[in-house]
Amino acid sequence: MSHEHPASIEIEGLVKEFKKGPRAVDGIDLRVDPGEIYGFLGPNGAGKSTTVLMLTTLLPPDEGTARVAGYEVRRDGARVRENIGAALQEAALDPFLTAREHMRLQTALHGLPKAERRKRGDSLIERVGLGDAADRKVGGYSGGMKRRLDLALALVHGPRILFLDEPTTGLDIQSRTALWEEVAHLARDEGVTVFLTTQYLEEADALANRVGIIDHGRIVAEGTPESLKAEIGEPSVEAVPSDPERRGDVARVLERFGSGDGECPHAIDQSIAVRLKGGDASLVDVVRALDREGIEVAHLQLHAPTLDDVFLAKTGRTLEGSGQSDAQAPAPADPREPAASGAATA
Ligand SMILES: Nc1ncnc2c1ncn2[C@@H]1O[C@H](COP(=O)(O)OP(=O)(O)O)[C@@H](O)[C@H]1O
Ligand SMILES: [Mg+2]
Repeated sequence: MSHEHPASIEIEGLVKEFKKGPRAVDGIDLRVDPGEIYGFLGPNGAGKSTTVLMLTTLLPPDEGTARVAGYEVRRDGARVRENIGAALQEAALDPFLTAREHMRLQTALHGLPKAERRKRGDSLIERVGLGDAADRKVGGYSGGMKRRLDLALALVHGPRILFLDEPTTGLDIQSRTALWEEVAHLARDEGVTVFLTTQYLEEADALANRVGIIDHGRIVAEGTPESLKAEIGEPSVEAVPSDPERRGDVARVLERFGSGDGECPHAIDQSIAVRLKGGDASLVDVVRALDREGIEVAHLQLHAPTLDDVFLAKTGRTLEGSGQSDAQAPAPADPREPAASGAATA
């Protein structure tokens, strides 16, 4: 990789060890370029928030260096804070204030000229789709509305680098998708760098240009979602014969399409599965071959590798099963593609 431009975020050997606690961040190196969405994916307790707290100058690192917007977090904290926006997990929203009142405070806090405060606040409220609720007290907001207000507050001073700590955890599908759209829009159309933590592999997959998978304070894998999945290998095909007696025949056919890395077709319950050496393109040939042998198939499915498979390969555990995982994130249309809908509306 050539590094002609200064990185938005550059971390080397970052460590945080809590007293009487774990080594929450255990030697992390990473680099995020301007305009990238970096997905920091890991289960509960992996060290995501601790990393974000250090990058946003709210917690001093024990070891290592972290430069954000070109400034070292320990030496130039004030400069770092000028250049970043952050929506963190312990959102400090006041239930007794309205969205507009929150914006008024935040714009004042960031020293916007008095004449601009109202306009800036209103435009951000509109932008995150809270126009109709702008004068309602935040205490009555849904989770999704609160996270969108968090985002609007983080954008008040037009930061070039945005930190979002689990921005969609606990949100329903519509709110989650709306937030994804807004984040994608910020990066794609405004060149904002986004450092986003998540426990949802679908979120990292759909939103991030690059993903770092973190576990026990260490990065266990990093790359584009595509490259990480490609590293795991080819998709596998799973077949269930209508006649259970013919599982042996199915296995023999599938064997011909197997990746040949010593992997034989293996049986799970009623089905036979094999990793396809020819990728998903060979699925058609599998179907033809089964047909030629006169094998009737009750169920045939292609399993593409997921980021969960990557996590499993690197840690021996599944991501969704570790942590106190809740509902799965949905997998809507790729928000990185230019979409018809703009701002969040849900
Ligand atoms: N203030 C703290 N004091 C002691 N331990 C902490 C503190 N904050 C976090 N930890 C521990 O550090 C680890 C990483 O936590 P955290 O960064 O919050 O993970 P994540 O955000 O990925 O869920 C966890 O084991 C957590 O219990
Ligand atoms: Mg956290």
